[in-house]
Amino acid sequence: MHLPRALAGVASALSLSSRQFEPDSVAYSDAATGLKFASYSSDGHVQFRVAVPSTVTAGTEFDAVLQVVAPVSMGWAGFAWGGSMTYNPLAIVWANGTNNVVLSSRIAYGYYTPPVYTSANYTILKTGTHVNATHFQVTALCKGCSKWGDEETGITEIDPTQQVTFGFAYSSNQVDHPADIESSFGIHDSTGHPIFELAVAKNDNFAATVAKL
Ligand code: HEM
Repeated sequence: MHLPRALAGVASALSLSSRQFEPDSVAYSDAATGLKFASYSSDGHVQFRVAVPSTVTAGTEFDAVLQVVAPVSMGWAGFAWGGSMTYNPLAIVWANGTNNVVLSSRIAYGYYTPPVYTSANYTILKTGTHVNATHFQVTALCKGCSKWGDEETGITEIDPTQQVTFGFAYSSNQVDHPADIESSFGIHDSTGHPIFELAVAKNDNFAATVAKL
């Protein structure tokens, strides 16, 4: 029996909308922090990792841990919680000397240096944050990275029960004032929109684990 053409169209649209894509992230267990992450390795050898609580359901605001590992030669690396450059929380990280890192919370309203964003708050976790001879690494808890926006721009929420598209950018050029969290910096060398599978990034006792780091 042949389905009428219109019905066949609906059936194929339905199967498309429920299809899961091959994620760009892989499961990663971090021995230092004990956290399970979904981890994406970008073209410039930068790792972007996200860990979430196991208890989160769709429609609930939640805290998340971001871990970024970058070659020391990298000027800065940026993570976009909403999957694009503009109108979503951005985390920009860089090394400040040989023993210190900076994580700057920003938001872009256009394609120019993103200003500081105060609605997302990051706590850098000592365990999992360092600079060594080859890499700098930042591990931070974010409050305010799973939901953002207002009535004018629209409210967006991350649904960790579904695949999530995040965004990244990096530049091999240093920021202008590495010691200043509000430093300006120039445009990226590369950007992308990786699909994350957060099902592998769920952590039992998330808050208690993070509190010890
Ligand atoms: C001085 C700083 C920056 C400048 C001047 C800048 C400028 C631009 C420009 C001109 C584009 C191209 C738009 C197009 O596709 O035609 C772009 C795209 C993009 N930028 Fe930036 N950018 C900056 C910082 C950042 C940061 C910190 C992030 C953080 C993740 C970021 C993420 C992206 C992404 C993901 C795209 C791809 C298009 C999109 O998803 O919106 N950018 N940027």
